[in-house]
Amino acid sequence: MDKFDIKKIKEDFPILSQKVNGKRLAYLDSGATTHRPNQVLDAMVEYNKVSNGNPHRGAHQLSIRATQEYDAAKVKVKEFINAKEIEEIIFTRNTTESLNLIARSYGELINKGDEILIAITEHHSNILPWQRVAREKDAVLKYMYLDDNGRINKKEIEEKISSKTKIVSIAHMSNVLGTIHPLEEIIEYSHKMGAIVVVDGAQSIPHMKVDVQKLDADFYVFSAHKMLGPMGIGVLYGKRELLEEMPPYLLGGDMIEYVTEQDATYAPIPFKFEAGTQNVEAAVGLRAAIEYLENLGMDKIKAHEMHLMEYALDKILSIPYVNIQGPKDLESKGGIISFTIDDVHPHDTATILDSYGVAIRSGHHCAQPLMKYLGLPATSRASFYLYNTEEDVDQFIDGIKNVREWLGYGP
Ligand SMILES: Cc1ncc(COP(=O)(O)O)c(C=O)c1O
Repeated sequence: MDKFDIKKIKEDFPILSQKVNGKRLAYLDSGATTHRPNQVLDAMVEYNKVSNGNPHRGAHQLSIRATQEYDAAKVKVKEFINAKEIEEIIFTRNTTESLNLIARSYGELINKGDEILIAITEHHSNILPWQRVAREKDAVLKYMYLDDNGRINKKEIEEKISSKTKIVSIAHMSNVLGTIHPLEEIIEYSHKMGAIVVVDGAQSIPHMKVDVQKLDADFYVFSAHKMLGPMGIGVLYGKRELLEEMPPYLLGGDMIEYVTEQDATYAPIPFKFEAGTQNVEAAVGLRAAIEYLENLGMDKIKAHEMHLMEYALDKILSIPYVNIQGPKDLESKGGIISFTIDDVHPHDTATILDSYGVAIRSGHHCAQPLMKYLGLPATSRASFYLYNTEEDVDQFIDGIKNVREWLGYGP
């Protein structure tokens, strides 16, 4: 039997079998958050029933079991992204916290006049932390912009990255346009110029195989809840030599070596960056989520999503009043379609589609500078994942075809 049996996969996700507004649910908002299969839910329940304790703190059996579960999750993440060492994996709350940690901590090493480079497509989580570093350090925040095909080209890379650039921070895949940025080129050129590269992998890691060593990324960050895992846990991968020179972000329990009345020394990595009680239950869920993805195979997941994208793009591009933002073909594009409908506000589109049981996102997608650059107040966004089907796409397209009529425009 083919391992990628979509009918069987859907059975693993109880939430998807419900009706919404009397219609079957077509969930096309996995870019915002994904659902959890039974395997992830069960692993977290089992942990709570059998092994819950405060990790790294106790001599008793439950604390030891919690520590083992936490460490096993780290090993799983390390293998999944092919990090060199387990010490290079730090658990945070989410992508946003990982990016803030890097900006706050590595940002301490930035000097007056240094340049920090990001892309115009970034999520606010990869903009605001760098704005603050630039303000506080008197550094310069610069942007890479898109060419006519909606992509960052070689010319832009070589024009914007210079010997003044100290940090390049960029999403692997845009949460608004679905564009997959040319990371290999950006990383190679940044290193040549002496800059380090932070990769926001929130939208990429759920959908493709990522090898941080092959990529030679200096930092790579992501959230569990966008890859079938629970909310409340994120990952920060960083190269050992960089993490070691960075000051801690949060101070408190579990990140110290010795504390005196007036001073403290810090624990080695990764503990230096993991102050306070960690979310072991979520780590267990993240491990189960990765196992689920690995069992299906990242290549098969990607192939399934690309098939759905081809199917959806073919249909949507033939509707004359729908405008796709960003690349309109599948070259360097993931499973996201951002669009507007002539004369219709994206919020109205999302509300009308909801009445057809279709869940999409509308708004500025936490990317207001990109919206301004595109000259749009907002877009609607459909995002696909491994549990979506052609039936979901058909329901989405049928809904779109009704939007203008609902609002009193001609078809
Ligand atoms: C590209 C990108 N970066 C960062 C984030 C923030 O993720 P989180 O809210 O899990 O911190 C998102 C969330 O949508 C995203 O799409």
